Amino acid sequence: TLDAPAAKPLLDWYDRHHRDLPWRVSPPMAARGIKADPYRVWLSEVMLQQTTVPAVKPYFANFLARWPTVRDLADAPSDDVMAAWAGLGYYARARNLKKCAEAVARDHDGIFPDTEDGLKSLPGIGDYTAAAVAAIAFNRQAAVMDGNVERVISRLYAIATPLPAAKPLMKQKVALLTPKDRPGDFAQAMMDLGATICTPKRPACALCPFNGSCEALRLHDPEHFPVKAAK
Ligand code: ADE
Repeated sequence: TLDAPAAKPLLDWYDRHHRDLPWRVSPPMAARGIKADPYRVWLSEVMLQQTTVPAVKPYFANFLARWPTVRDLADAPSDDVMAAWAGLGYYARARNLKKCAEAVARDHDGIFPDTEDGLKSLPGIGDYTAAAVAAIAFNRQAAVMDGNVERVISRLYAIATPLPAAKPLMKQKVALLTPKDRPGDFAQAMMDLGATICTPKRPACALCPFNGSCEALRLHDPEHFPVKAAK
């Protein structure tokens, strides 16, 4: 049987091939314990939930230029925020964004809570965003799950249970694989791997840091995973 997959090759790959994104600090800084700004991480994660990385970049830059801190966003007129959001879609997210900024400013002295549960208590922050901000901004041991991560983990373990029933199992696997020292880099490495190597069609397994331990590759059928429930 194969050894349990380990995160080390993924982190080494991330150190060399990570995408330079405006809301990130560099992996060497992150490894020395320098955290990303929670406001930037939160804003980027909310924007990225319905939009691709290239489409988000100009909106992210504009928001930061106009409202450099969460207090600035909390104090901004709603109409200005909605207008700046125009084009990103899913406008409920922009309204929640504003509500969340107001709650952080009013109830938390303008400082984001630094735990998953604390973040989840804020309006508009669900499981995904709480885990992402806790891991990336505060280096908390949180299991960050999005579509990319689901694909990577389902292939790594050849998870035969279809989605969405497999989600709890996937989350458990991600939690076990998350390294204690670099959970934020690990989460972002999984997302980058899913976006650039472990793609839905024709994944580039020859370049993948997990190609020595991926069960779906061993079965010669990575595209079979994740399994979707029959309609
Ligand atoms: N998609 C959602 N969040 C992301 C992140 N932090 N890095 C890359 N892609 C993402």
